[in-house]
Amino acid sequence: MKKLSLTIDYLEYDSMDELTAEDKSLMLQAHEAGKSAYAPYSNFSVGAAVLLENGVVVKGSNQENAAYPTGLCAERVAVFSAGSQYPGVAFKTIAVTAKSSKIAVDNPVGPCGSCRQAISEYEVLYNKPIRFLLMGETGKVLELKNVESLLPLRFEGKDAFHSH
Ligand code: THU
Repeated sequence: MKKLSLTIDYLEYDSMDELTAEDKSLMLQAHEAGKSAYAPYSNFSVGAAVLLENGVVVKGSNQENAAYPTGLCAERVAVFSAGSQYPGVAFKTIAVTAKSSKIAVDNPVGPCGSCRQAISEYEVLYNKPIRFLLMGETGKVLELKNVESLLPLRFEGKDAFHSH
């Protein structure tokens, strides 16, 4: 038996204004995407913007449903849309932001576990790290350098479907 540990490096910016011009633009597009959220049940609007290797940005917002589990998070709407519109094009960065009509969202929002797994698939597929930029409606921004940082010991297809 061995005791092991994992550490995660990430960056914290006091505000969006500390980001590079490209990253700030992506975050602004995530904010823009959040305006199309359909969130009448939670009143929590999430926007995601995925920057692809070809420079295209694909946006998504959460889409809820009266049968709650049927709805989908902004991140998966965005990455599935990117995957279907631009097959074969790697993802560079995903920016995520959220706001609520009920509370102030002034802390970064982390993607849910299912979204982390969904995004992981594209990192493995293209063998290129996908960076995350996370924020609330206002306040600080967190930057993580890849999916592994958000989903350590993740499940990959090679573990189950490919012979070694
Ligand atoms: N939601 C997202 O879109 N992304 C997240 O990372 C967390 C949660 C959505 C799902 C649901 O529509 C609402 O936020 C409240 O959970």
